[in-house]
Amino acid sequence: MASTPEGRTPAGGQGPGDGQRSGGAGPNGAGAAPIIGQGVESGPPTGREPNADRADVARILEAPGRSELPPAKGDSDLRGQTPDEMEPPADALLVVRGLKKYFPIHKGFFNSHVGDVKAVYGVSFFLRKGETLGVVGESGCGKSTTGRALLRLIEPTAGTAHFDGRNIFEMGKDELRRLRRRSQIVFQDPFSSLNPRMTIAEMLREVLGIHGIAKGKQANDRIAELLTIVGLRPDQAVRYPHEFSGGQRQRIGIARALAVEPDLIVCDEPVSALDVSVQAQVINLLQDLQRQFGLTYMFIAHDLSVVEHISDRVAVMYLGRMVELADARALYRNPLMPYTQALLSAVPVPEPGRKHNRIVLQGDVPSPANPPSGCPFHPRCQHPLKDADCAKIVPPLADKGGGHFAACIKVPLGAGE
Ligand SMILES: Nc1ncnc2c1ncn2[C@@H]1O[C@H](COP(=O)(O)OP(=O)(O)OP(=O)(O)O)[C@@H](O)[C@H]1O
Ligand code: SF4
Ligand SMILES: [Mg+2]
Repeated sequence: MASTPEGRTPAGGQGPGDGQRSGGAGPNGAGAAPIIGQGVESGPPTGREPNADRADVARILEAPGRSELPPAKGDSDLRGQTPDEMEPPADALLVVRGLKKYFPIHKGFFNSHVGDVKAVYGVSFFLRKGETLGVVGESGCGKSTTGRALLRLIEPTAGTAHFDGRNIFEMGKDELRRLRRRSQIVFQDPFSSLNPRMTIAEMLREVLGIHGIAKGKQANDRIAELLTIVGLRPDQAVRYPHEFSGGQRQRIGIARALAVEPDLIVCDEPVSALDVSVQAQVINLLQDLQRQFGLTYMFIAHDLSVVEHISDRVAVMYLGRMVELADARALYRNPLMPYTQALLSAVPVPEPGRKHNRIVLQGDVPSPANPPSGCPFHPRCQHPLKDADCAKIVPPLADKGGGHFAACIKVPLGAGE
């Protein structure tokens, strides 16, 4: 068997320590389980503990000669701590571990359960108090499902999410009601999320009443205050949603979220439906409110320029997984994951004359009901070092240096620094 100048097997080889222990005859080869990173399998869930999979990885990395040498060009590198293994920071408001959400697929006369849409497939991260985590990725990658599961608007399939130390997924009715005061959502389409038959005052009064925050004159004063805070006039409270523009309606959606004085707001594409000029106004409003009230945002969006502008950190999702997570500046300047590189290459560069090498992704996003083996991105990946390992190993979302996490086995440890 050929070896590298360092005396080790090249990528895709079968020698000791090359990070390829699935041992099968091809992707998911018969008779051997694939090496799994991130505590998630490419097949259906087995209920195994995440650490069981990581134990496999650790064993490989301890193979003779492996730990002393950096990976050779093309070698698979599974090193780096995952968010699952890390102690969250002391100021973490939300700590999410191994979040999964499957939607069952039923078919036939007997409505039999024939499979699952794996909308969120083992996502782990934390959110610090007062920060904005941008979440990007192509349509259907699981952004909204993640946000909704974290607010318990939908029930998760597995995982934990600790909000200020309490697991959201174990909360009873009363605790959940208290959580609703602390975490809110702003939707993309404010029109469909506002009741067309209620005036703004009626709608806000209802929210204030349900949560026992204010009633009567006190509620009226609070409504006037909320409308002023979001840049509307108190006298507009008597109007119905259809009497407002798209941007104004989104301001009303924000006022409704703010009414309960939350700590966390999941902003699910809050500006995607708005004109560019109006987008900037709403983004500026969200930033002002964050400064004023110390809010924490999970900001979901398609538009990478918007996300760069507003986010402290950015998470990139692909096919239900988080595939890159880093400080916004680090991610935009030094994207590690080939998928992120492709997404960023599609963002227009404002400098005239600057050469722009766009990476055109081949093919469509695979079905989340039947994700590819190994790295979920491998059928579309443009990385020059992509090899047989990519179809076998599920890359862990590993810290590649300086808190820059990437789920790619061809990104060596240290690339994030
Ligand atoms: N209630 C549901 N029942 C079945 N499948 C669902 C349901 N909600 C979402 N899905 C599926 O889960 C996957 C993730 O959907 P999700 O809405 O989270 O994606 P997204 O990243 O928010 O996409 P977009 O950018 O288009 O809003 C998709 O394949 C979607 O079809
Ligand atoms: S992103 Fe590309 S190179 Fe990296 S593990 Fe996946 S397929 Fe391989
Ligand atoms: Mg969505």
